[in-house]
Amino acid sequence: MPQVAETQFSLHDKSWSLKRFPFRKHETLRAWDAADELLLQEVAGSIKQNETVLILNDGFGALATVLADHNVHWINDSFISEQACRQNVQENHGVEATLNCHNSLSWPDITFDWVLIKLPKSHAQLEDQLYRLKSCLHSESKIVASAMTKNLHRQTIKLFEKLIGESHTSLAKKKARLLFAKAEHLTPAASPYPKHYSLSEYQLDVFNHAAVFSQQKLDIGTAFLLEHFPEKEDCETIIDLGCGNGLLGLRAAQLYPEAKLEFYDESHSAIASAQLNAEKNQLSNERLRFVHGDCLEQATPNSADLILNNPPFHQQHSISSHIAKQMFRQSWKTLRKGGELWVVANRHLGYHKDLQALFGNQKVAHSNSKFVILKARKNR
Ligand SMILES: C[S@@+](CC[C@H](N)C(=O)[O-])C[C@H]1O[C@@H](n2cnc3c(N)ncnc32)[C@H](O)[C@@H]1O
Repeated sequence: MPQVAETQFSLHDKSWSLKRFPFRKHETLRAWDAADELLLQEVAGSIKQNETVLILNDGFGALATVLADHNVHWINDSFISEQACRQNVQENHGVEATLNCHNSLSWPDITFDWVLIKLPKSHAQLEDQLYRLKSCLHSESKIVASAMTKNLHRQTIKLFEKLIGESHTSLAKKKARLLFAKAEHLTPAASPYPKHYSLSEYQLDVFNHAAVFSQQKLDIGTAFLLEHFPEKEDCETIIDLGCGNGLLGLRAAQLYPEAKLEFYDESHSAIASAQLNAEKNQLSNERLRFVHGDCLEQATPNSADLILNNPPFHQQHSISSHIAKQMFRQSWKTLRKGGELWVVANRHLGYHKDLQALFGNQKVAHSNSKFVILKARKNR
C-alpha cells in the first residue's frame, strides 16, 4: 500500500498545512514539490512587506499560502489549481485572507517587484506568459523561476534571454533548479497566441490558446474519435467532457444540428479556445454552452444523451487516472437512461474495467494498435 503523503510544509521555523484538490483521504502525493521548496527558500526571507509579488502556475497554492502576508497576485490557467490555492490560503490564514486571482488570459495592469514562476510543462504556455509578463515588469523587478531539473531545458533559458533578459540557473538541489532573469526587454510585444491550423477534412478552422491540450496539431486520439464519430438517434443534449479546443463538440454540432451542446473543461484556455472555435466556424449560437469547472460538477443529472470524452491521464506533472475515473462516475450521473458515454484512450490504460464496474456494460466500438474507443450505456 503506498504511503499517505505528508501535508505539513515547513520553512524557517514556521509550518503550513497544504493539501491537493480535489481532496482525497488517502492521497499519496504532496501538494508541493522540491521546486516549490527551493523557490521559497530563496525568496521568502527577501521579499519586503510593501513589495508586490506576482505568482505564476502555483500548482496547489503552496507559494501563495507561504507568501500570503504579502501583496500577492496569482495567475493560473487551471480551475482545480485555483480551488486548491483558495482552500490552502483559507485553511492557513482564515477566511479574510485576500487572494488576487487572475486567469491566464487576463493579466493585471500593474508592475511587480517580484515575479515567481513555476515553469509550466508546455513551452508554448511559457512563451505566451513571458510575452504577457513584459508589461508587468519594471527595470528593478526580480524574476525567479523554478522547476524540477528534467523540466528546465536549454531552450527554456534561451526563451527567457530572448523575451526577458540575461538569465542564469542555480545548482540543482533535490533535483530542482532555479532560473534568475534580469528585467531588460521591457518593450511590450503581443503574444503570438492563439495560433491556428485548418482541418479541411472536417471544414474546421482550429484556433488554440497557448495552454490548451495538443496546441500545435490534432491529437491522434481525438483524430481517431473524429474518424469513428458516434451515430446515435434522438440526441437532444451532447456533452464534450474535457473539451480542450472543443473539436469533438464542434464536430457534434455539425453532425447533430438540432442538438444542444455543452463543453466542460477545467482549463481556462481550453474553454476560451473552444468558444473562439465555435465563433470562427460559425457554429456559435444559443444551443452551445461553455462551462469552466471541475469535470461535470455543474451539469444537470439525467440530462445528456451522449458524452464524448478523451480523458486526461495526468494532473499537472503527475500521471494519474483519478480524474478520468471522476469523469466516468459523473458521466453516469449526468446521462439520462439510454444515454451513452464514448471514451477514446490509449489501449493500455484499461478503462474498460472502470466502465464495466460503473455502467454494468461496455463495448469496444473501434480500436487500432494504439487506441480504443469504448462505449458504455446507462441502462437504469
Ligand atoms: C486529453 S485532453 C482532451 C482535449 C480534447 N477533448 C481533445 O480531444 O483534444 C483532456 C482535457 O481534459 C481537461 N481536464 C483535465 N482535468 C479536468 C477536470 N478536472 N475537469 C474538466 N476538464 C479537465 C484538460 O484541461 C484537457 O483539455
